[in-house]
This record gives sequence, structure tokens and C-alpha cells, in this order.
Amino acid sequence: MMNEMNDEITVTCRINGGEATLQGDPAGSTVSALRARGLYGVRETCGLGVCGTCTVLLDGEPVSSCILPLYALDGRNVQTVEGAANGEELSDLQKQFIESQAFQCSFCTPGFLASAQALLDQTEGELSWQEVEEGLQGHLCRCGSYEAINEAVRTCSRNRNCTAGCAAS
Ligand code: FES
Ligand code: FES
Repeated sequence: MMNEMNDEITVTCRINGGEATLQGDPAGSTVSALRARGLYGVRETCGLGVCGTCTVLLDGEPVSSCILPLYALDGRNVQTVEGAANGEELSDLQKQFIESQAFQCSFCTPGFLASAQALLDQTEGELSWQEVEEGLQGHLCRCGSYEAINEAVRTCSRNRNCTAGCAAS
């Protein structure tokens, strides 16, 4: 539900499975709104929708939260990297990123995880190197961890037990 008052809006949505009410500039960015709620796993780099760092899942689809206006969240389901884990228990994909050492500084990792999760949720069977590369297009890793990230996602696709463990709630 959206209420307009004094150039601010109130947006009702679900964030990581829980009801949430956000208030602010309707054109304000989702990344700012999420970080203001303490969801610091959502990170901003370019602010232009070109690096993938700020990616979250919106109704299961990866979106750049730096260019997603607050008003667009009304009635939608948002999942951040915090919501992919089950409390203290990491998702299988998150565990595989650690196992494959698929990061160095990890600044890009939450964004990669969001798109990788969507890719796994929307496909079946073992993914090829090229399928993973195409699925993660638009994500930049300044540390150059692309090979390890690709391996982590392919390994998860091979196991496929990830689908239940990592699914968006
Ligand atoms: S910070 Fe959003 S795409 Fe770069
Ligand atoms: S691990 Fe450092 S930017 Fe990707």
C-alpha cells in the first residue's frame, strides 16, 4: 500500500520474508532504504546500474537496487543476502562460495550470490561454464575472482541440493 504525503511515500513490502514498511522519497534508491534498515550486505559501488554490486532479488529476479526506486517495492518481495541464509545457517550456495574461495575482498559477493541464486532457481541440472558466465553477466569483481565464482556456481548446480536450501523465502 502506498500513501503519499509531503513528497514522501510509505511503501509496504516483504523483506527477507517479513512484512516491512518503508518511508521516504519515492525516487530514493532501494539500496539506501535497505541499508537504513541495517541490511548492510547490500552494497553500492557505481550507483548507475552497471556493476551488479547492489543486486538483490525482487520477486526472485535479480535487480540493481541502486537504480530501483522506493515506489517500485510496493507489494513486492525483496531478498537480500541476509535473507538467503537460514538464521546462522548459510545457504548451500553461500557455503560453496566459501569452499571454492570465490572472493577476495568480498565486496561484490552479495550481488553475485543473488544472481547466482536466481540462475540456480530458474534452471535444472548441471550448468556449463558458459551458462554460468552468461547468467552472471553484468557483475564486476575488481579482485578478479571470476573463475572461482564460476566454479562455485557450477559445483552447486552439480549438487542441486542447493535448490531447496538456497531458495528465496
Ligand atoms: S552499485 Fe548498483 S549496479 Fe553498481
Ligand atoms: S572479491 Fe573483491 S570485488 Fe569481488
